Amino acid sequence: MTANVLAIDGPAGSGKSTTALAVAERLGFAHLDSGALYRAFTLAAIDAGLPLGAGARIAALVRTLPIRLVLGPQGFRPEVAGADVSEAVRRADVTAQVSAVSALPEVRAVANDLLREAAALHPRGVVVDGRDIGTVVFPEAPLKIYLSASAEARARRRLEQEGRAHDAGSVAEETRRLAARDRADAGRAIAPLRAAADAVALDTTDLSFEGQVDAIVELARNVFS
Ligand code: CDP
Repeated sequence: MTANVLAIDGPAGSGKSTTALAVAERLGFAHLDSGALYRAFTLAAIDAGLPLGAGARIAALVRTLPIRLVLGPQGFRPEVAGADVSEAVRRADVTAQVSAVSALPEVRAVANDLLREAAALHPRGVVVDGRDIGTVVFPEAPLKIYLSASAEARARRRLEQEGRAHDAGSVAEETRRLAARDRADAGRAIAPLRAAADAVALDTTDLSFEGQVDAIVELARNVFS
């Protein structure tokens, strides 16, 4: 395994993926988005017509899925049977079902193998974002960040990012959706969302995007010299 792993964990909509990509570009590392992988598994299960409760069948599907993490200019992206699914995995039906799929232990084992293999492939290093990167997937990572922000700030950013209306009603509804996913991700038995004991906590509620990227890059420059 490459020693240069920067782990970024945090709840839904905390800006992990966009932050991780920007930090990776500044450091010359590759971005590895573990959430995109769980989303790709979920997309495949939906496309196969598997109902949410079909845990054993979803796990079996994931084990045999022709899925790869392919390194491109924007970091690693998921491909299923040679097709780039990075756009499709953002679909609302995928978002609604991903927490149920990611709670399956067999699915997590496959994801972890793929993530570790991908990281080992990159000569300089990787910025990996997710929920359990610092706690389970790369517990030896020399730098771990736990990004958080108030649920309302996260909801507002997510709506802005997706170009959707962000009036009070939409923000309240998105806040509820994010909070439900946080509860599912933090409450599951296996690899729940939580900060590693040695993670640096960064609350971004009042930070600009550039501010949070600068803060992490500065920490990283001291660690990965
Ligand atoms: O981007 P967003 O915050 O919406 O979520 P994501 O990073 O794309 O992750 C989607 C879902 O995958 C999460 O809600 C978790 O259920 C799951 N996930 C996980 O269980 N473990 C990870 N390391 C990353 C994501």
